[in-house]
Amino acid sequence: MRLRTKSCCFPSLPKLLPVLLSLVLLSACGGGERPDDSLRIGVALYSQDDTFISALAQDLAQLAQEEEGRIGQKITLLISDSRHNQTTQMDQVDRFLARGCDVLCVNMVDRTGAAVIVDKAEAEGVPVIFFNRQPVDEDIQRWEKTFYVGAGAQESGTLEGQLAADAWNADPDRWDRNGDGLMQYVMLEGEPGHQDALLRTEYTVKAITDSGIEVERLARDTANWNRAQAAARTALWAEEFGDQIEVILSNNDDMALGAIDALSGTGRPLEDWPLIVGIDATVPAMEAVAAGQLYATVLNDSRGQAQAMLNLALALHAGEDPAQAVELEDGHYVWLPYAKVTRENLDSFRK
Ligand code: BGC
Ligand code: CA
Repeated sequence: MRLRTKSCCFPSLPKLLPVLLSLVLLSACGGGERPDDSLRIGVALYSQDDTFISALAQDLAQLAQEEEGRIGQKITLLISDSRHNQTTQMDQVDRFLARGCDVLCVNMVDRTGAAVIVDKAEAEGVPVIFFNRQPVDEDIQRWEKTFYVGAGAQESGTLEGQLAADAWNADPDRWDRNGDGLMQYVMLEGEPGHQDALLRTEYTVKAITDSGIEVERLARDTANWNRAQAAARTALWAEEFGDQIEVILSNNDDMALGAIDALSGTGRPLEDWPLIVGIDATVPAMEAVAAGQLYATVLNDSRGQAQAMLNLALALHAGEDPAQAVELEDGHYVWLPYAKVTRENLDSFRK
C-alpha cells in the first residue's frame, strides 16, 4: 500500500513536505480521467508556508498512508497551495472537481467566500470539509454535505490567558517589573478577520482579568501569524517601551517565536525577558518552552484535526453516516480540544 500524491497541476507541492517529495516524483500525472478506484481527496491550503498548516498537511499525509495500509483502500491526496490568493484557490477547487476528487478539504484564504465553493461542490455531489479557517454558519448550513473541522478559538484564548495568569500569580515579583500591580502587556495578533485572531485576543485578556489581575495594554498589532513580521514589530516595541513590557501575548507560536527572535537580538539576559505565551505547540515552539524562552503554549491539535478530516472523508466516500465516524455537533461541526503545554508536561506532547 502506498500513499500517492499527484502534483502536475500544483507545482508548489514539492516545497511542501519532504515526506511527500519522493512519492510525488514516483507518481505519474493522472490527467483528467480516473486512473483507479482510489479515494481522491483534494486538499486546498491557504498557504503552505504557514507552520501550523504545513504540520497539519503533513499529519494528514502520514495518517492517510497508515489508514491505507489498515483498510486496504487506496487514498490519493492532491494538495494545492493557494498562496494567500482566493482567486487562485477557486481555480484549484475547480481543477480538483474536474479531476474527479471524491472529497474536498478546504482551508479558505478568505473565510467569507465559502458559499461559492459549497455550491460548486454540491453541483458535482462532492462533499466539502472546511478546516482551520471557519466559514460563517450560514455557508456551512447551505448543504448537508458541508462540514467544518477545527478547534474552538475562544477556548484557546482562555487557556493562554490562564497560563499567563498562573505564571504571574506564582511569581509576581519577577513579572511585575515596575511593581505597580498591573500587568503591562503587548498583543501580537493574527490575520485580521480570522476567527482565531479575533477570539484569542479577546479571551486571553478576559481570562487574565477574570483571574483578578488588572491589565494595561501598551500596544497591539497584527503580525499576520508570521514570525518575521512579529520580530520586526516586537523590535520596535522593545525600542519604544524598553523594560516596561512585562508580558507578550501572542495569538500563535510563530509570532511568539518572532518576539523571541527580537528579544534575543537585544542581548538582554533571559531572566529579564517579559513573560511570553503562544498557541499551537509547534515543534520549534516546544523547543523554546524547553529552553525557557517561551513560558508556555497551547496545543492546537493538528493531528487530531487531520484524523477527523480523514475519518469524515472515508465515511462520506463510503456513503456511511458521518456521525458514526466523528463526533458531529449540529450535524456539521467537529471540534477538537486544546490543551495547556508548559515545561512540566512538555514531554507528553513531544513526538
Ligand atoms: C493557528 C495559526 C495559523 C492559522 C492559519 C491558527 O489556528 O494557530 O498558527 O497561522 O491558524 O489559519
Ligand atoms: Ca506592572
